[in-house]
Amino acid sequence: MGSGSDGGGALPLFETKEAKFKNAYRLFLISMFIGICMIWVYRITQILFDDDVEERLVWMLLFLSELWFGFYWVITKSARWNRVYRYAFRDRLSHRYEDKLPRVDIFVCTADPTIEPPMMVINTVLSVMAYNYPTDKLSVYLSDDGGSDLTFYALLEASVFSKHWLPFCKKFNIEPRSPAAYFSTKSNSVVDVEGLSSIKKLYEEMEHRIDTAANLGRIPEEIRTKHKGFSEWVSVTSQRDHQTILQVLIDGRNPNAVDIDGVALPMLVYLSRQKSPNHPHNFKAGAMNALLRVSSKISNGKIILNVDCDMYSNNSESVRDALCFFMDEQKSHDIAFVQFPQSFYNLTKNDIYGSSLSILTEVELPGMDGCGGPLYIGTGCFHRREVLCGKKYGTEFDVEYEDSVLINKVQEGASKLEETAKIVADCTFEEGTQWGKEMGLKYGCAVEDVITGLSIHCRGWKSVYFNPTRKGFLGVAPITLGQTLVQYKRWAEGNLQMLLSRYGPLQSYGVGRIKLGHRMVYCLWCIWAPNWLATLYYSVIPSLYLLKGIPLFPRISSLWFLPFAYVIITEILSSIGEFLFYGSTLGCWWNEQRMWIFRSTTSYLFGFIDTLLNLFGFAKSRFDITAKLIDKDVAKRKDIMEFGNSSPMFIILATLAMLNLYCFFWGVKRMIINTQTPSFDSLFLQVLLCGFLVIINLPIYNGLFFRKDNGRMPTSVTVKSIILAVSVCFFIM
Ligand SMILES: *[C@@H]1O[C@H](CO)[C@@H](O)[C@H](O)[C@H]1NC(C)=O
Ligand SMILES: *[C@@H]1O[C@H](CO)[C@@H](O)[C@H](O)[C@H]1NC(C)=O
Repeated sequence: MGSGSDGGGALPLFETKEAKFKNAYRLFLISMFIGICMIWVYRITQILFDDDVEERLVWMLLFLSELWFGFYWVITKSARWNRVYRYAFRDRLSHRYEDKLPRVDIFVCTADPTIEPPMMVINTVLSVMAYNYPTDKLSVYLSDDGGSDLTFYALLEASVFSKHWLPFCKKFNIEPRSPAAYFSTKSNSVVDVEGLSSIKKLYEEMEHRIDTAANLGRIPEEIRTKHKGFSEWVSVTSQRDHQTILQVLIDGRNPNAVDIDGVALPMLVYLSRQKSPNHPHNFKAGAMNALLRVSSKISNGKIILNVDCDMYSNNSESVRDALCFFMDEQKSHDIAFVQFPQSFYNLTKNDIYGSSLSILTEVELPGMDGCGGPLYIGTGCFHRREVLCGKKYGTEFDVEYEDSVLINKVQEGASKLEETAKIVADCTFEEGTQWGKEMGLKYGCAVEDVITGLSIHCRGWKSVYFNPTRKGFLGVAPITLGQTLVQYKRWAEGNLQMLLSRYGPLQSYGVGRIKLGHRMVYCLWCIWAPNWLATLYYSVIPSLYLLKGIPLFPRISSLWFLPFAYVIITEILSSIGEFLFYGSTLGCWWNEQRMWIFRSTTSYLFGFIDTLLNLFGFAKSRFDITAKLIDKDVAKRKDIMEFGNSSPMFIILATLAMLNLYCFFWGVKRMIINTQTPSFDSLFLQVLLCGFLVIINLPIYNGLFFRKDNGRMPTSVTVKSIILAVSVCFFIM
């Protein structure tokens, strides 16, 4: 690919533009950096010229915190230094390559039928089956690590429904092509497409059948007899111990596999790889590698799209968009993967948990793209198969399975195909091979996707970040504070693990293989977890010293005040600017600031501890909140923070909130009553910081003292946090 014969002198298939006002922005960053250096200088002079030992220690730690924040600032801004934006021209692609389009294999991964309901899974599957792409070149694989016959049944239903759904999508050119999402946009509108009500009825009947089976807890006998696949479950004893189950539900090669209009259907395959208690299954990375091998036996698409089962396709042109980056004659040769952003369809207006990832999507990933390519975030990503399988840039690669591709052997029935292909999904297959090391996704890291992407970059490849206005993939964001914090804990932990692993961006493995700037941006995610220390220190000590009446920052009238003021004001304004410029609201910005502090003092703290415990071989701490079923009220309390269950994370948050409230009121009262030194002038920045923390924590006070609904803080958290906060204050005074 990438070397079409008619390509010479043709218009490019994609274009890359630099961010506007790049140089002015860089100058501005440099001025801020000078401000930060001044703050460091101020701290050093303080440490040197103070005689009090205790204060020296406090200052020393403040200096270390500020050093850390400065370092973190440099890393975050390195992700803004060289932003680029990509534009794809799929008309040109169709014009030049319509009859030479490559085969595309789509991998959807699911792991648990209770957390990931089969209806959601098949909506995702149906949305990707309906891509605007030649169906004979499209294959969809569902990997079910839950080994659930319910998921299999749902997929079987989906394969039948697709015979109606795909022609409907194409005939009326509807978007989005996930039935649930489409019907929900249609429910309020008066414009009717011909046949809408009948297809909706079919969908609802299918949903009803699947729900009935789900509620029943087993598949009814009359359904089981309809497909030979169900017999596989006769011998399945447990989710963690069963043989490989591979079922070709739609054999796209078969002339009879057509929709109601007689048009061919894409291939649809169900896979539940073998599990055995004696073999590590390596989570999603293991599932992806099994899919890579199984698909290579069946369709062997050159391009692979990987989506999570909770992310439906919101744009039926995404495959063609992505191909523009793989098939340009001049510029595609070193592009290994094309990453789409992770976007969400059910955020509240002001995004109370800061889960929109809007700055990541709009600013940081384009910045990473400008210095070598975005990371692979594990969903919404198109890969070249051979690169994912381990090919180095600029070398020849033996595709291990080239000769065994079966797709063209139409005479072989689906069962023969299943027989041949399922061997490679057995858990012993990988023994003694490079799978999980140099081939496929890497094992042994919680962020297997990121580390795999990094190793691809280390093998000399680039990647592309493509963020179209109409988002390619939409998923579900967490809807309670607990879920959000646990999710970030997992990410922070995985990223730190990666930093410390031998493949980390700062280890010698990366040196010389990828550019310094690129490694710095990778660090942006890896150093989330260590943030907790500086943040915790900064949100406790200045407030306690306000209570004691001891200034820790320069007085307003001092010249040293200027760098503090400059850095604080410009940082706030530029961050608000970024939010507003990319279509977010001021409310979102504010909530993101709160969530940053919340995450730092809880998710990152626990992520950090767990990583260290793990590193030194101790058992992991068990701070994860088990995903409780969300009660109906959560949906109603949209813009209010959800606490609900007791968690060590909430105790920390509540304690910090109480501490700051106490320090703020007593500190300010004392300052007013006691008019001698120290004055407002010298405590100003501490009052500001402590006051800011109090306002940030307003939803916590509300949850602790005022709310009556189920989402309030549990009483045990309230009691524990009050005791903790009061003891800290006594201890320090
Ligand atoms: C988000 O979607 C989930 C799953 O569909 C739903 O349970 C939840 O209520 C939605 N939340 C919001 C805020 O829309
Ligand atoms: C999803 O697609 C629909 C059209 O199908 C579009 O109106 C909507 O803006 C898209 N959503 C996002 C977040 O881009």
